[in-house]
Amino acid sequence: MPKMHASPAAASDPVARRYGVAVGTGRATLSPTIELQLGHRSVRLFLTTPVTDDQVELIIAAAQSASQSSNLQVWSVVAVRNADRKRRISEAIGGQPYVADSSVFLVWVAGFRRAANIVHSRGAQVETLGYLENTLVTAVDSGIAAQNALLAAESLGLGGVFVGAVRSNPEALITELGLPEYTFPVFGVALGHPDPSEQAGIKPRLPRRAVLHHEQYDTTAWRETAAVYEERLGEYFAGHGKDGYSWADILTNRIGSIEGLHGRDSMRASLTDQGFASD
Ligand SMILES: Cc1cc2nc3c(=O)[nH]c(=O)nc-3n(C[C@H](O)[C@H](O)[C@H](O)COP(=O)(O)O)c2cc1C
Repeated sequence: MPKMHASPAAASDPVARRYGVAVGTGRATLSPTIELQLGHRSVRLFLTTPVTDDQVELIIAAAQSASQSSNLQVWSVVAVRNADRKRRISEAIGGQPYVADSSVFLVWVAGFRRAANIVHSRGAQVETLGYLENTLVTAVDSGIAAQNALLAAESLGLGGVFVGAVRSNPEALITELGLPEYTFPVFGVALGHPDPSEQAGIKPRLPRRAVLHHEQYDTTAWRETAAVYEERLGEYFAGHGKDGYSWADILTNRIGSIEGLHGRDSMRASLTDQGFASD
């Protein structure tokens, strides 16, 4: 496999920038939406300028515009602006400063509380909320909606970062936000105006052939693409002041041992407490 180094083309072509190397994109024309998606980066350093309530409402309208399983609409968002509450949440989930420093911390609450209330109000039972399928439905739909929200925020010149660390201490979020049975905090999205001094760029992704398979799953594509990516991401981080970065190390730490779950190995118990036994 020849070495692929970032070429000058990578600086101006949004697709090349995403992969960290010039790649063919055929005849398809870029749209402004795709350009925005290709330019995504997580923002963890914010200016103090507030995100307005009107902006939050627009962002949530974009989130609600996402496709929804059976149009059930089984997620909610708690928008946290209060400085003390953001600080308490930040401390409870491991001290992420971007939660405390965000203008607004949107906590994505998966769940069927609203749906269950409606069904109960009709005198009917809810028999299926303890099944894994419904846990998946609400978690999947939450993720789809939240990505719409983050992209909408980015289109307004804002920035943000998903915060899965809320699942490192779901009980703290449940208490802090008063979350009832049949709800669960799946992640947060910290939003604000990006501080331009943040040393972060567009992080290259795996070569496309690692993830795009045709007709059937290619069980061999991983080996060569992983080697290419290991080098490319290492170069990216070296260029951002972090030498010796290894993506394979990250994967190994994350899925190689229980410690990599950062305390989330008791997730089923936390879910069960909230009504999601996930059988
Ligand atoms: C569901 C989800 C949870 C995440 N949780 C965290 C988090 O807790 N802390 C954090 O710093 N970044 C978090 N991230 C951001 C990822 O680290 C980031 O998207 C990834 O490294 C790629 O970088 P980029 O978004 O800048 O392209 C999360 C992303 C997702 C999708």
